[in-house]
Amino acid sequence: MITCNSVEQLRSQIKAWREAGDTIAFVPTMGNLHAGHLSLIDIAKQNATRVVASIYVNPLQFSPDEDFESYPRTLDEDLKKLEQRDTDLVFTPESSIIYPHGEQRSSYVDVPELSKIIEGEYRTDFFKGVATVVLKLFNMVQPDVAVFGEKDYQQLLVIRQMVEDLNLAIEIIGGETKREADGLAMSSRNNYLTGTDRENSCFLSVALLQLKTQIEQGISAEAAEDNCVETLEKYGFDVDYVTLRETKGLDNVSKDDIANGVELIVLAAAKMGKTRLIDNVRFVVV
Ligand code: PAF
Repeated sequence: MITCNSVEQLRSQIKAWREAGDTIAFVPTMGNLHAGHLSLIDIAKQNATRVVASIYVNPLQFSPDEDFESYPRTLDEDLKKLEQRDTDLVFTPESSIIYPHGEQRSSYVDVPELSKIIEGEYRTDFFKGVATVVLKLFNMVQPDVAVFGEKDYQQLLVIRQMVEDLNLAIEIIGGETKREADGLAMSSRNNYLTGTDRENSCFLSVALLQLKTQIEQGISAEAAEDNCVETLEKYGFDVDYVTLRETKGLDNVSKDDIANGVELIVLAAAKMGKTRLIDNVRFVVV
């Protein structure tokens, strides 16, 4: 496995692979890798002959009150895991490469509307930070395919829209959410959870599945969302949102949409102690 932090080395290796007829799949990450990330590497391997991963904790997607400084940085362990998974190259750029003029003075990408709703209402510049760094990484790696986790479903849609809007020749593939044995969606931030908070955090996925069952039973979206919030609060969550949407553009859904088999997604964000968790469940009412 090649590890590099220079764009020149990255580009010359990608060029050599392309000349040899290889195709490139890319998995961008912020490190602190878990089984969810590694499953994205496996998907990448199934879709190209070479797999490139990046590890970069992107300051532009953190607001000043978020955990940029304390975000877990575990490079040595991450590199071992990627090597065991047969990753071909890991790109670990410094901020001076990603943001040569500093992140606050950088040109940026803003995907309108989709970036402003749901998660974007709580994390105002989050998707701007994500879209900007992902476009920069795409320009450096120039992959044929890139893989993103479906746990961050709104992020996946923002990236798909950016790729379409900016006519990038990159196929975006979503990887299914990986869960702990008790249902908690895997996330690097789960490491912050301890004791009762960790035990109760599994009720996020339980409450979303309960909402799905209620919608299937014909309970209205509003009532099912309210019940879900109530369950989450009972287990100690401080809820930012629970919202039922359709999966293409995250628009609100009507009773008719639900009855007519539109694909649905319930998205939620809630804090357990100081740890903010997000999760979603997708389904169709048959
Ligand atoms: O999902 C993440 O880990 C990050 O948002 C990403 C896509 C690597 C951009 O920094």
